[in-house]
Amino acid sequence: MLAIGSDHAGYTLKCEVKKYLEQKGVQYIDCGCNGERADYPDIAKAVCDKVTGGECDKAILICGTGIGISMSANKIKGIRAALCQDYYTAKYTRLHNDANVLCMGGRVIGAGTAEEIVEVFLDTEFEGGRHADRVEKMMKLEQG
Ligand code: RB5
Repeated sequence: MLAIGSDHAGYTLKCEVKKYLEQKGVQYIDCGCNGERADYPDIAKAVCDKVTGGECDKAILICGTGIGISMSANKIKGIRAALCQDYYTAKYTRLHNDANVLCMGGRVIGAGTAEEIVEVFLDTEFEGGRHADRVEKMMKLEQG
């Protein structure tokens, strides 16, 4: 199960991504917004709670640039949010960082690029090995 959310600036792209997920048969929970003005930290929190609470194992967040919503998500314990606007970074953030939240900018990329990014993000497994040690160190930074 996947959680998805956007602010108003990411809403149009979120609708495109949802259509794509439906075509692929991926089940999702939409945590808002529904097109109305929304603050990206509120959406990041609603979506990331689904991941940290165990209801979803991955999530997608979209705002205008992808920056505010990714910064917000990364303040939440247990979240590894990656802002990806291209295929390569989406692939490697799964392989090397075990990212559990994909962030995109609805005012930056189009639906075609977003679909490729989502596909590789969902289909790529974490490589583990030496990357597991690094991810573990990264997560320890949350403890101060
Ligand atoms: C909203 O206007 C915009 O600031 C927001 O979507 C995002 O781009 C912030 O990082």
